[in-house]
This record gives sequence, C-alpha cells and structure tokens, in this order.
Amino acid sequence: MSTREPNRQKVAIITGSSSGIGYATSLMLARNGFYTYATARDIKKSASLQSTADAERLPLKLIQLDVTDDRSVKGAVEKIVSEKGRIDVLVNNAGYGLFGAFEDLSVDEIKAQFETNFFGVVRVTQHVLPIMRNGMGGGIIVNVSSVNGHVPFPVISAYVASKFALEGLSESIAYELEPFGIKVILIEPGAIGSGFMKGSVMSNRALDPKSAYFEFVRKVRSKISSDHENATQPEEVAKTIVQAILSDKPEFRYVVGSDAVTLMQARKNMPYSDFQHMIQKIVQ
Ligand SMILES: NC(=O)c1ccc[n+]([C@@H]2O[C@H](COP(=O)([O-])OP(=O)(O)OC[C@H]3O[C@@H](n4cnc5c(N)ncnc54)[C@H](OP(=O)(O)O)[C@@H]3O)[C@@H](O)[C@H]2O)c1
Repeated sequence: MSTREPNRQKVAIITGSSSGIGYATSLMLARNGFYTYATARDIKKSASLQSTADAERLPLKLIQLDVTDDRSVKGAVEKIVSEKGRIDVLVNNAGYGLFGAFEDLSVDEIKAQFETNFFGVVRVTQHVLPIMRNGMGGGIIVNVSSVNGHVPFPVISAYVASKFALEGLSESIAYELEPFGIKVILIEPGAIGSGFMKGSVMSNRALDPKSAYFEFVRKVRSKISSDHENATQPEEVAKTIVQAILSDKPEFRYVVGSDAVTLMQARKNMPYSDFQHMIQKIVQ
C-alpha cells in the first residue's frame, strides 16, 4: 500500500466482522499490523473475535456498526477519528442473500436487500471518504462483491442486482478517487464456507407451498446450499483482500475460488445463449 507517511500505523475499518469473510479479514488485517476496527451490528456475536485478538495481543478493537443505520455509521466513524484521527483502509463486507423467485419478492424485501448490500456500502463509504481524503496519505476501499456481480442466477435476483449495482458504483467512483490517491478494489468470491447460508433470508411468499415457484426455489436453494459445503474457506478471501491492500499496484478486481473463475470465464467468453443454457443446466 503506497503512502506518504510510511512509519505511522495504518488504520482499517471493516463491516460485518461477526462471521465469515469479515471475521477472517479482521484478524488477518490486525496480524499484518493494521490497527483494525472490526465492526458488527451486534458486537455480542463477536466475543470470540475479540478474545482471539486479545490472546494474540493484536491491534484490534470491536465497535458497533449497522450499515443500514446512519447514526450507527456516523458514531462508529466519529469514534475512530477521535481515537486515531485517520482511516487508511475501508473494507465494505457486510451483506446477506435474499432468496425467492422475483414474483414472490415484496418491494420491501428487495429494498431491505439493497439497504444492506448497496446502500450500506454507500453510507459507510460516504462517511469515511472525507477522513480518508484529508488524511493526505491516500487510502484503499475494498468492496466485497461476488461472482454474482457479473453472473446472474435464478432465485437470488435481488442479491444479484445488488452486487451488479455495487460493481457499477465501484468502477465509477474509482475515477473520482484516483486523483486523491484512493484506490477502489472489488473482491468477487464464488461459494464461500461462511455463515452466508445461515444468515440468508427467505422471502415470505417463497415460503408458501402455494407459490408457483415453491419447488423450483427449494431445489435451487438446496443446490446453492450444497455448493457452500466444502466450499472455499473465508481465510482464502481474507488472504486475497490483505494481499491486495499490501500491494503497491493492486488489481482492480480479484476473483476468489475456482468455481468463480470458471463462471466468470464462461460469462465472458461464451455466446450468451450458450451461457444461459449452462446456467439452466446447473439449476435443473
Ligand atoms: N459466502 C459466499 O458464498 C459469498 C460469495 C460471494 C460474496 N459474498 C459476500 O461476502 C460478504 C460477507 O459474507 P459472508 O460470506 O462472510 O457471510 P456471513 O458469514 O453471513 O457474514 C456476513 C456478515 O455481514 C453482517 N451483516 C449483515 N447485515 C448487516 C448490517 N445491516 N450491518 C452490519 N453487518 C451486517 C453479518 O452480521 P450478523 O452476524 O449480525 O448477521 C455478518 O457479520 C457479503 O457481502 C456477501 O455478499 C459471500
């Protein structure tokens, strides 16, 4: 990570640290010397993160931050600024998956999906940017997207849409931030063995056996669930994130997991009709 103040300890903030990728990345950042503000909407859930960090004497502090709550985001950023006066790294990681066929999703359910996965990133980044910009040392914003930021999939259309939106936002703001020495990085994991399936939300109407899509959703969800068993571990994603942050010349996007690499290549190289056929076969 380039900087004009090489000797000062870098300060990182990460959202969604209570489990999975956020948990692993928080520890890895702290183990690499970053003063790490590991945030979670319910810090009681992160007791083991704090105790692991304390046992290893890592520079990690747990603070409350709900990405859907303006006051919570503002309070967390103000706390960091009052304690450290700077933020060098922001990892926008918090997110969840909404399951259900599109016709069954309520507008409120779709809005809630975007409120976390998209507007959560907007909210935290807009609070952090003035601090990062005024820190004079530049900075890095890592947005945890997904293979589904490029690859569509049935039954998770709102999730896919939120990640497509995140990709567009990240690509666009990178141009605005580059003159201030602030880099934007996208992380695009495939299936990761995290708390993702447990933390996912089923649309209310999708739970109704009378739904026209009931069997299809059940089948696709169970396929996605089985992909998450024996999947790439969150530590792999954490390693990619930390290596990117430490790199002098990071890539703009990092695909994590062989499943993600295969799907991305197919999306890029196959004629769209062949690609559609491939996805149809996966969910049959
Ligand atoms: N697992 C995968 O297969 C996969 C693949 C591609 C991309 N991703 C992305 O990776 C990111 C991390 O997910 P994960 O796989 O590590 O799943 P996870 O283990 O379920 O972790 C998700 C984290 O986000 C937090 N979160 C959810 N809503 C929040 C809110 N309003 N405010 C603050 N934190 C909130 C959760 O907190 P609680 O514990 O309080 O719920 C949890 O700490 C997500 O953006 C996800 O879309 C995951």
